[in-house]
Amino acid sequence: MSATAKKKAPMPDDIRARKGGEPLVSLTAYTTQMAELMDAHCDFVLVGDSVGMVLHGLPSTLGVTMEMMILHGQAVARGLKTAMMVVDMPFGSYEESPEQAFRNGARLMAETGAAAVKLEGGRHMAETIAFLVARGVPVMAHIGLTPQSINTLGGYKVQGRGDAAAELMADAQAVADAGAFSVVLEKVPANLADEVTAALAIPTIGIGASAGCDGQILVVDDMIGMFTAFKAKFVKRYANLGEQAEAAFADYAREVRAREFPAAEHIFADQAPEKK
Ligand code: KIV
Repeated sequence: MSATAKKKAPMPDDIRARKGGEPLVSLTAYTTQMAELMDAHCDFVLVGDSVGMVLHGLPSTLGVTMEMMILHGQAVARGLKTAMMVVDMPFGSYEESPEQAFRNGARLMAETGAAAVKLEGGRHMAETIAFLVARGVPVMAHIGLTPQSINTLGGYKVQGRGDAAAELMADAQAVADAGAFSVVLEKVPANLADEVTAALAIPTIGIGASAGCDGQILVVDDMIGMFTAFKAKFVKRYANLGEQAEAAFADYAREVRAREFPAAEHIFADQAPEKK
């Protein structure tokens, strides 16, 4: 590529075409600043409904609204140049009918500039996925542990163990056949994730799945150590920014109380210095 040629963000079809190739890299983001920092390193960025727990202190993703997703989607869009943006459909915004899903999916895309939406569910969401895709809303599916269903799944458990493996494979096939351009596999046994990856014609994106998936995603605040309420086994901490921030707050508080801050270099004289 020439020095002046600009790299364009991929489209959902480009992500689909990466099946079996170099692993796809993805993180979640909720703010412009984080989006800017990760843009050059990610193929796509997900504005996840995890925003509810990570930034808003909610106990689960169930209280996340369309308005929250739109506001954070718009913020992330301002920070991205070369990564594709996907926005999560929040709980209650798509399950009722394909028409409801289209109305809200189209609104998310129109108001945030997202290239695609993500929704949770397997076979029972296949009709909705096909309906959206046929009408211009590209869909990333999400199966395995689907956090919007924790109350029916009985908690944040590994999905697809033992006899449940065949069910998970059927969900994966159903969302692929319905036209999803990729599928997130969350918290499923590694061997099953590998089998699903081998069976599907679309990329699998693992989170707590397997290095053999076609791509990986992590929640940004988990991997940089900003969200410390709990750490799932599948999270690798690449930084401990939460600890660094707390140490900075403690230093600042001590210096303010000791009248050490602001120091001479942070304050202004009554006359501006003469220009030479
Ligand atoms: O909301 C989210 O952050 C997600 C990822 C964990 C895949 O759905």
